Amino acid sequence: MHKKRYKILLSEAEIRDRVQELAQDINADYSGEELLVVGILKGAFIFMSDLVRELTIPISVDFMDMSSYGASTRSSGEVRILKDLETPIEGKNVIVVEDIVDTGLTLSYIAELLHTRNPKSLRICTLLDKPSRRKIDITSDYCGFTIPDYFVVGYGLDYNEKHRNYRDICILEPTEHED
Ligand code: IMP
Repeated sequence: MHKKRYKILLSEAEIRDRVQELAQDINADYSGEELLVVGILKGAFIFMSDLVRELTIPISVDFMDMSSYGASTRSSGEVRILKDLETPIEGKNVIVVEDIVDTGLTLSYIAELLHTRNPKSLRICTLLDKPSRRKIDITSDYCGFTIPDYFVVGYGLDYNEKHRNYRDICILEPTEHED
């Protein structure tokens, strides 16, 4: 099975505990406020669904879909919107929920775009951060785990649309993914 080719980096239990901590921070920071939680498809869908169920403040949700790496594990450097928000965000507290920050191109593009729509506040929550590959200086307000430069799959993250359903976050062995 996949355990021969994939090494567990973060276990299901570690992820669950950290997601609860992130949600506690968000609950405290937005106490008495309402929040629009914006998930970036597709990678954030599992993280987002676990995170929002730990939130006790009033929330609504929306999604954006951006162009992704396609068949490659390395960024093309090009970012495009495939699906925009359905909700106007002017005057609202917005948190963008992303699976991983790698070069930072995707999140910086999204943050710049959403800022032009005049939200009351805009913050970024990412489960994983790979700072060693950063091309654009962007930091998340809430970050689950900082990880080395591994290509990881599971808990929503894919390689060629596969492995999103793994409960753990696993390192894809180099021989399996080199371009
Ligand atoms: P960035 O624009 O380079 O920061 O890339 C962000 C996007 O690249 C993420 O939302 C993921 O879809 C994808 N990505 C980056 N690193 C990984 C990885 O290790 N595994 C799976 N997807 C990744």
